[in-house]
Amino acid sequence: MTLNGKQILLIVSGGIAAYKAAVLVRRLKEAGASVVPVLTKGGAQFITPLTLSALAENPVYEDLFSLKDEAEMGHIRLAREADLILVAPISADLIGKMANGLADDLASTTVLAADGPVAIAPSMNPVMWANPATQANVATLMQRGVHVWGPADGDMACGEMGTGRFEEPEDLVARAEAFFAPKPLAGKTALVTSGPTHEPLDPVRVMANRSSGQQGQAIARALSAAGADVTLITGPVSLPEPFGVRTVRVETADEMLAATQRALPADIAVFAAAVADWKPKTTASEKLKKTANEAEMSVSFTKNPDILATIASAENRPALVVGFAAETENVVENARAKLSRKRADWILANNVSQGAVFGEDSNTVTLVSAKGTEPWPKLTKDQVAARLVQRVAETLT
Ligand code: CTP
Repeated sequence: MTLNGKQILLIVSGGIAAYKAAVLVRRLKEAGASVVPVLTKGGAQFITPLTLSALAENPVYEDLFSLKDEAEMGHIRLAREADLILVAPISADLIGKMANGLADDLASTTVLAADGPVAIAPSMNPVMWANPATQANVATLMQRGVHVWGPADGDMACGEMGTGRFEEPEDLVARAEAFFAPKPLAGKTALVTSGPTHEPLDPVRVMANRSSGQQGQAIARALSAAGADVTLITGPVSLPEPFGVRTVRVETADEMLAATQRALPADIAVFAAAVADWKPKTTASEKLKKTANEAEMSVSFTKNPDILATIASAENRPALVVGFAAETENVVENARAKLSRKRADWILANNVSQGAVFGEDSNTVTLVSAKGTEPWPKLTKDQVAARLVQRVAETLT
């Protein structure tokens, strides 16, 4: 995903979250966008024009009646040249102005003159956000097609808790990327399994593996950005829940299978989870204690259900079933055997002979299907996800 070639007019209004606009500018630029900042008088109380301008590598526009600003670029041109106007953070005051068509400064005049997409990322005290006046203004803006990104829940800088927190800059970039991304999978549903499973031995111990969940989450994000309605079923991971994706957290393979079955019907299913093949035969209800004269202990295991194989043979089987295979030798033959044994349509075979994949940022895979094999170069997990989604879109649309 990328914002390459996109021009974003970033209006920063007053509020403590304005300091986060600096990070937002950085992240937008890292994603490939060019950023033209506009700073309101209120915003300038919290962040300096110099900071924004240095990070954006563009001048900051502040004053409606500045001869210099107007000579360089009038508010009409500012509004029209942007691919997206993002007001982040937006205060309750500026929301009110926008809803009522007021235009008494450069920011409000620019959004009134806009004829393209506008998104706002509110940030304010939870009581101000919940106030019926604010809610009515936001509803008006939404009716007019303004995209409302956030606010999030959580601790506020003002010391209160609730809804009103500025969306994290990374999430706003994800929203902007999703906004611009083509939507070849609109109307399709997808499920993705991801992460490890934890199989309990007793109330405090589990059998686990080192899967980080990164590849599965990257796939869930990419499917969602392509317009699919995505359910991510994840074992225990330390990653934040991806934006815009329905996330179901599970612990064991049995729970993962049940959650996956509940997520059917789906058009696309990608099984990226590192499911434990075995679980302890019994789970002790109390913590297992060691005794002084025992030098060894043994545990009996029983087989876990194969989630991929179960879903691929189900009556309501998704149209496209994709699995992974971790192989150290005979990568293609082993993947092909897995393809037919599990009845998957595609297997992404990971060559893990060169070292660890778990927790790494990159992955070297070969796409194996009934049609043949396609070795992919070493790619980041995001690039693997993007390429997979591209193939999915070509196949299903
Ligand atoms: N899988 C699953 N449920 C299991 C085991 C695996 O859904 N109980 C899925 C994984 O999510 C992955 C594929 O099946 O898509 C991997 O199959 P697996 O047989 O475990 O392959 P490897 O991990 O490569 O292990 P092995 O070669 O030892 O069979």
